[in-house]
Amino acid sequence: MIDDKKVLFSGMQATGTLTIGNYLGALKNWLTLSEEYECFYSVVDLHSITVRQDPAELRKRARALLTLYIAAGLDPKKNCIYYQSHVSAHAELAWILNCFTYMGELNRMTQFKDKSAKHADNINAGLFTYPVLMAADILLYQADVVPVGIDQMQHLELTRDVAQRFNAIYGDVFTVPEPYIGKVGAKIMSLQDPAKKMSKSDENPNASVYLMDDPDTIMRKFKRAVTDSEACVRYCDEQPGIRNLIDIYSASTGKKPEEVEREFEGKGYGDFKLAVGEAVVDVLRPVQERFAELEKDKAYIDSIIKENAEKAGYYAQKTLRKVQKKVGFPEKIR
Ligand code: TYM
Repeated sequence: MIDDKKVLFSGMQATGTLTIGNYLGALKNWLTLSEEYECFYSVVDLHSITVRQDPAELRKRARALLTLYIAAGLDPKKNCIYYQSHVSAHAELAWILNCFTYMGELNRMTQFKDKSAKHADNINAGLFTYPVLMAADILLYQADVVPVGIDQMQHLELTRDVAQRFNAIYGDVFTVPEPYIGKVGAKIMSLQDPAKKMSKSDENPNASVYLMDDPDTIMRKFKRAVTDSEACVRYCDEQPGIRNLIDIYSASTGKKPEEVEREFEGKGYGDFKLAVGEAVVDVLRPVQERFAELEKDKAYIDSIIKENAEKAGYYAQKTLRKVQKKVGFPEKIR
């Protein structure tokens, strides 16, 4: 608790360009929850280097992502928006938690398996212990809730297990966090292969709609989206492409899937795809406009980066000091 408010932590990687999956699955829920909770939203650049990055490009993307959090509507005076690498306690707690996490647990992580298959020439130890750093992010702020898409659930379960294990040995040190998964949009699929999740790193640019895509590109991508030959807009497992488009439309408009089915009864896929494209364009337009303005205000963004790193650092140090004492590190002599 901070000032009688429960705490929320979440983060995103600045690798690749954000997709509407990231927006509808996570960022949109961050906005809904930001009034109710004391929020920490991190640009997790330590996680990004588990895959080889171009340094200048990573710096540029990290800044764009931080700016985008604000452009999406998060007030940086109320929400702590910061770079993970500016708070060294993340790496320090991750080391300690590494000693409380089992190899067997990490071996079971499906994202590790997927990423090692994709980057077979660089299966580094950081990629393996990635979920432990994620646990450190969350536990440092004593977060009660963590809004994420479905793909992060396994990492959250591990975080809970590690927190409970640590608490069982040393007493109630960590708050055990609950995941928050939105009702719609928690797993947006690729527009070209509805069996695969929409991803920042997909090589096919038509598979993902990016947050910064212009309206023509968005409309074109939806027009080309893979569907089926059933020719009716129905929310079911047999029509995964259409179901995904209904999810995107529902998450963008707030309409329930049943309402969407009714709205497009008797209409063809052409009409439906057009409506989905327009709904997404409408959601993204204000975000893109604010982003363009904020990007120009270098001094403002710099001040947010500085202030919020200090705020995050303050809370992170509180937990880190407690943990260091519990595990037996000697106190600093001041
Ligand atoms: P990342 O950067 O891959 O994704 C950011 C958020 O977007 C969600 N997401 C999706 N939701 C719905 N449909 C999709 N197709 C889709 N793709 C991505 C993700 O679930 C996530 O919520 N490891 C994390 C970042 C992280 C983190 C944390 C998150 C680091 N530390 C602590 C929460 C708490 C990641 O790589 O997310």
